[in-house]
Amino acid sequence: MKIISATNYFDICEKTSNLVAKQLRQKPNSVLGLATGSTFLGVYEKLIQNKEIDFSQTRTINLDEYVGLDGEDKNSYRYFMERNLFSHINILPSNTFIPSGMAKDIKSECENYDKLIKNLGGIDLQLLGLGLNGHIGFNEPGDCFVANTHSVALQQSTRQANARFFGDIDKVPASAITVGIKTILQAKKVVLCVSGLQKAKILIQVLFGPILPNVQGSILQLHQNLIIIADKEALSLWEEGL
Ligand code: GLP
Repeated sequence: MKIISATNYFDICEKTSNLVAKQLRQKPNSVLGLATGSTFLGVYEKLIQNKEIDFSQTRTINLDEYVGLDGEDKNSYRYFMERNLFSHINILPSNTFIPSGMAKDIKSECENYDKLIKNLGGIDLQLLGLGLNGHIGFNEPGDCFVANTHSVALQQSTRQANARFFGDIDKVPASAITVGIKTILQAKKVVLCVSGLQKAKILIQVLFGPILPNVQGSILQLHQNLIIIADKEALSLWEEGL
């Protein structure tokens, strides 16, 4: 794994968007694995500002979506992506993929999403954020690592962390669809972006703790091409040598 220490959040965004730009220069029809969450707001802003990036052949696979929210709902991840990235760049709408939280049959939605990823040839570059409980995508702490796309009951702490977008924790959906650990590990390159003091402890567990389902992100230690881009606050415990 390669750890890149960024001076602050803005530097994380700059460095991450540069990596994406480089990926698309080298392979314009890359399959990008995209994440949501506030960490990526600045990354997507940087991507939008860089007018030299050509997304016309790019395909995107988003990690997750809330069950029960349709794409028009301002808290859905489809809405997040349209508003914060897709509507500002020259990507073809038909090349952007996000699981449907409104699917009648969630199980077949998950199976179809896995087939889609396979048909696209897998993910070239996967962007990941980190939940406060160590989740990646919406793979929540559990008694096993789940391989494929699946629905998951969101933990109270995750709903609490995302309540700021909904105004009230009770409005946060109880479940979500997320790609599984297998898809994430099969990505050719993984970039984990982490910002802020509140994630310093979990980041150390993810990177250097035992690989355990209770800290889903810890499985990333097994990835051969993992880059962590984190700011000084998120890396503060590492830099203290703990
Ligand atoms: C949500 C998303 C994750 C994201 C996490 C962290 O739970 N499902 O993909 O990594 O939030 O979000 P933030 O960047 O807002 O801390």
